[in-house]
Amino acid sequence: MKSHYCGEITSLNLKEEITICGWIHRRRDHGGVIFLDVRDIKGICQAVVNPDNENAFKLAESIRNEFVVQIKGIVRNRLEGTVNKNMHTGEIEIEVQDINIFSKANTPVFPIDEYQEVNEDVRLKNRVLDLRRPEMNERIISRSKITSLVRNYLDKNDFHEIETPILTKATPEGARDYILPSRVQPGSFYALPQSPQLFKQLLMIGGLDKYYQIARCFRDEDLRADRQPEFTQIDIEASFIEQEEIMTISEKLVVNIINDFCGDKLEKFEVIDWHDAMQDYGCDKPDLRIPLKLFEISEIVKDEEFKVFSEPASKKGSRVVALKVPDGNSLSRGQIDDYTKFVTKLGAKGLAYIKINDVNDLENGIQSPILKFLKSETISNIIKSLDVSTGDLIFFGAGKESIVNLSMSSLIKKLGDDLDLYLKKWAPCWIVNFPMFEINTDGNLTPLHHPFTLPKSSVKEIKENPQGAIAYAYDVVLNGYEIGGGSLRIYDKSMQETIFEILKISKEEAKTKFGFLLKALSSGCPPHGGIAFGLDRIVMLITETTNIRDVIAFPKTQSAACLLTDAPSKVEKDQLDELKIISTHKEK
Ligand code: AMO
Ligand code: AMP
Repeated sequence: MKSHYCGEITSLNLKEEITICGWIHRRRDHGGVIFLDVRDIKGICQAVVNPDNENAFKLAESIRNEFVVQIKGIVRNRLEGTVNKNMHTGEIEIEVQDINIFSKANTPVFPIDEYQEVNEDVRLKNRVLDLRRPEMNERIISRSKITSLVRNYLDKNDFHEIETPILTKATPEGARDYILPSRVQPGSFYALPQSPQLFKQLLMIGGLDKYYQIARCFRDEDLRADRQPEFTQIDIEASFIEQEEIMTISEKLVVNIINDFCGDKLEKFEVIDWHDAMQDYGCDKPDLRIPLKLFEISEIVKDEEFKVFSEPASKKGSRVVALKVPDGNSLSRGQIDDYTKFVTKLGAKGLAYIKINDVNDLENGIQSPILKFLKSETISNIIKSLDVSTGDLIFFGAGKESIVNLSMSSLIKKLGDDLDLYLKKWAPCWIVNFPMFEINTDGNLTPLHHPFTLPKSSVKEIKENPQGAIAYAYDVVLNGYEIGGGSLRIYDKSMQETIFEILKISKEEAKTKFGFLLKALSSGCPPHGGIAFGLDRIVMLITETTNIRDVIAFPKTQSAACLLTDAPSKVEKDQLDELKIISTHKEK
């Protein structure tokens, strides 16, 4: 149908008769001569229709943007003065002999031939047009190239690509399941996998040694800019392997992708203990491009009269931290008020600060609403401990650990953005030594990863002190995003039963939900472990967007809807009857 891609024709093709196919990017009528910019996946090429070619000219007059055409013609040099050095095809044009219109197009809802900010809902409703925009087209192709780099790397390292079921039983990863009714077994449901976790473990018990899958996962959870209800994991598992080996293989995978794709030189990943990450950054996904850290000052302020600081300083589960912002003195009162509002929305009670006008003059050289509440010796101590210079500003967060951590870690990220504090392009790290469990709002323990994670304690130790147990678990964080997480797995039945017990999963429930796993664990299970990367998040970071929907061809909105197809949608009553389902939902 075509001899060349539009975007690939250059002066090397001069005088050749060629045929191209594509979309009309733009049509210009220059008094007697019609210029057609034809676009395909590789780029744009200019075609020229002269009036003496009557048939073609007539068709060209009727052509509008986004019509799909086939054009036959001869490649020639552009006239002097009309050469476009910025375009790959900018030195040549096609003298049109024949035009064939494959299909006409309505006027596009938004222009494709120029960049325009378009409301995301409009883009999602008109996704086919949106996908034609060069930046979207490029992102989707980048995703395909990245996926293929992943496959190459894992294939070369003896991993086998194996598919696991989509119609399955619940796999707990902390979200709600999407469930699907069975027609042949009325009243029974499949769950869509939150991850292939249990199947990849079963594959290891099945002797398959090294597995990977570019796996679709489904999680019914609150959506954010970096979360989708269905997303893709690079899912990996291996047998007879230590944590360090998995970390090395995984790190090389990420380094390979970024170095190959972006031509960058990613260095070795920093390894940070979970506890240190929480202390220093207030979160387990620090953005290490930003050179800001929290400094614990509980010891320094615990005996102060100022209760805002002294109470949390001496209370278990609370903390007081200082955050030095180099050159932060230039922040205006209005900006500081905005930051105060920002942390208050996250639960903080306030945001005390000290501006350092002159570090050598602690009497008159500092400015702060809390000066009157603190002894000058305490202020001097804080300033010394933080190694503060003239021109810096110190923010303070005091209160419940969870609130201080959330508000101050968010403040670090916001300051990084607002003040453009990023020191490097890539800042990857490992977070290791996660606790096995955290306490829920209802006071019960839940796994920080999933219930199949191997603890560093024995059965006896973990029974005695589950909250103190540390897991063989590791996350990869890149530029403040958790791009992957994994662990060694429990390969001993009694340990698995103990974990279920701690999670208050009764023997009966464990048997119903995970009987197949317990049985497999009793059939000879190799020590094994693995990891899963969020492919969407990796592509998002590499293609420099902060919106996960930009790297998914047909994504869902924050309310898990597909605006293009209008899914989810109502089904016919007959279909529900067949499934023996009655909806109790009342239309408003
Ligand atoms: P986890 O739940 O940490 O681990 O998921 C692994 C990675 O998947 C990505 N991710 C998501 N991406 C987009 N939208 C979502 N809703 C979403 N949820 C998770 C993240 C995350 O790091 N079975 C374990 C892995 C293992 O232990 O091997 C698991 O699923 O980048
Ligand atoms: P207050 O005594 O509430 O007027 O607060 C005095 C100063 O301390 C103000 O600058 C508040 O923003 C700040 N502040 C109050 N509570 C906290 C807190 N929990 N953490 C940090 N600063 C606070």
